[in-house]
This record gives sequence, C-alpha cells and structure tokens, in this order.
Amino acid sequence: MAQALYHPEHGYYSTDRAAIGRRGDYFTNVSVGPLFGELLAAQFVEIWKRLGRIDNFLIVEQGAHHGQFARDVLESTQWRSPEFFSALHYQIVEPFSALRDRQSQGLKEFGDRVSWRRSLDELEPFVGIHFSNELLDAMPVNLQGKLVGLDGDKLVFVEGPGGRPMNQAMLDWIDCLSTKLERGFVIAVDYGFSRAEFREVLQVRAKHRALDSPFDEIGEADITAHVNWTDLAERAEANGLRVAGFTDQHHFLTGIISEFGRGDSPEPPANASPARTDWGQSPLPSDSKTKRALQTLLHPEMLGRSFQVLALEKDVDLAEPLSGFKFARNPCQALGLRVCNSRVST
Ligand SMILES: C[S@@+](CC[C@H](N)C(=O)[O-])C[C@H]1O[C@@H](n2cnc3c(N)ncnc32)[C@H](O)[C@@H]1O
Repeated sequence: MAQALYHPEHGYYSTDRAAIGRRGDYFTNVSVGPLFGELLAAQFVEIWKRLGRIDNFLIVEQGAHHGQFARDVLESTQWRSPEFFSALHYQIVEPFSALRDRQSQGLKEFGDRVSWRRSLDELEPFVGIHFSNELLDAMPVNLQGKLVGLDGDKLVFVEGPGGRPMNQAMLDWIDCLSTKLERGFVIAVDYGFSRAEFREVLQVRAKHRALDSPFDEIGEADITAHVNWTDLAERAEANGLRVAGFTDQHHFLTGIISEFGRGDSPEPPANASPARTDWGQSPLPSDSKTKRALQTLLHPEMLGRSFQVLALEKDVDLAEPLSGFKFARNPCQALGLRVCNSRVST
C-alpha cells in the first residue's frame, strides 16, 4: 500500500495521478461541491469563538489533495466571518511536491495566509484545529496474518505474522500530532468502525469501479483501509487528548446546519456567487445544486452513514458539545472505550 500509493515515481498519490470526482476514480465529501467546506467552516468559526477569538488561529490540514477544501473554507469565511478570517492562518501538511504545486496554484489569491509543511514533524506547536478528510484510510496498513510475496512474477498474499497492529501508521501519526496540538481540536472525517464492529476492509477503486485485488492496476488505483476508530481514540487519550465527539456524518452535519446562520453573518459581497448569497441568515441553502449536494452528504445510503467524524480536544471547555455533536450519543460508549477522559456528557 505504501509503495502503490506513495512511491516517488510510481505512486498513485505522490505523482498526482489520483483523480477525485465525477470524471476520476471516486468521490469524496470535498468533490461533492463547496458545501462540505462551508459547513465545516461554520464549525471552525464556532471553535475559534470557544477558544476566546484568539488572534493567531491555525487550521492545519493534512491530505489536502488539490487544496479544494482549503479553498472552500477560506472563500466562505472571507465574507461570512471576516473577523475569523483575519485571525486565521491555514497550513497544509503535504509531503509531495507535485501536490504542493497544485495546492499553491489553487490558493494563490490567499497569499501568505496559507503555508506548507512537508510532514507533521516540521509543524510548530499550535493552537487551533487539525483537520483531515479521508487521510486515515489512505495510511498503509498491516493485514493480519498476511504479507505480500511473489508467485513467479505476480504479487500475491502469502502467510505472515499475526498480532502486529493493523494501523501502526495511524498510531504513529496521532502520537506525533498530540505533541503538536497545544490547545484545540483534531477533527478527522473518514470511514471505519468502532472496535466492536471492526473488520478488515481493503478497498481498491479506479474509475468508479471496485477492483478485486490491490495487485490490480498498481499505481493507477486507490487503495484504502477502514479505520478502527476505537484504536485511534484510545491512543489519543493515552497521549493526553480527550474525545470531544464521535458520530456519523449525517448527525454531524445536521448539528452544524441546525446552528448555521445564527449570529453574526454579514451581508455577502457583491461578487459572491448567487447560489451562496441567499443563506447568510437562513439555516438551509435553497438552490437545486446545493440541495443535491446536501442530500449526497447527508443521506444514509449515500455518504451520511458510511462516514464518521471523530473530534479530539486538548484544553477546551466542553460544557456544551460542539454543534456537530449535539445530536450524537455518548462518544465513550459509541467507541466502546474502557477508560475515557472525555468531558462530554451527552
Ligand atoms: C483519499 S485522498 C483525500 C483527499 C481530500 N482530503 C479529499 O477529501 O478530497 C488522501 C490524501 O491523503 C494524502 N496523504 C496520505 N498520507 C499523508 C501524509 N502522511 N501527509 C499528508 N498527506 C497524506 C494523500 O496524498 C492524498 O492526497
């Protein structure tokens, strides 16, 4: 998986071959349209307010692909929450220069409000949010009892050791990230299971088809593994983070929408696209494109149930849950955590 996705010359992601969207290999929340970024931006603004409207607020995004989510967040907060926008710095963690070039092209107009780091290690300790959409499922995994071997000139699975953590890369990632977050949230959107429901699922996708084997079309296909959310939350808590919420995307976005537009949305600028100007104060957009996007993001048989959202926090007052989790059940129970320091009381 590491070689197929990230080999410097032949990797699916590292060489910018990955095509996301209608004409590509698969959809993500981000490729559905700007709505996902706009709704998440509303959640980010709420977090900034809870952290005391600080001047130096950082959003770190990892797995930003072509930078579309960053663009959606920056564009919508620029006019909808100008105070937040002026306090905001956006940093993308991107190891691959081909992707960094694409991102900096697409985000040019935001100047030095956006900056880059090659790895989490390079990140300075920060106050704010680490956000990712479908980063964790793209981290290489160890399948239990299997290794990759050769049969003649064909790659095949051969018997291997059991008992290695499946998601060592994800555990190393949260170990590092928890030393970097001084105060704020880690918000990860992805698909997976709690430990009680967990099963190994490896998906291989190209041109909107599911391929039978990760050895098909190597370097031309996406390979993902479902996330074990309980493993991640447990490791985060061991590192001093606390679970701030866990729910499916349907409930998460519905919670954000229920608070959307309340408060201080200013008038949209004259050059904002017409589809975006009519929901400054109203909870729901009304144009047909946005309605379709909303349905895709929320519908249980589309993306609403298959995606989950985990939020982890450090040093934040959570007397009230974030609006994304106001319809969620207790995250410690949902994740089956034996020891849980979460301050969420829902
Ligand atoms: C499935 S894509 C998600 C893209 C985008 N977030 C979206 O929703 O459309 C996964 C992305 O994670 C990136 N990625 C994987 N490991 C990474 C790492 N350690 N640091 C930064 N990006 C990484 C890949 O290069 C790829 O762009």
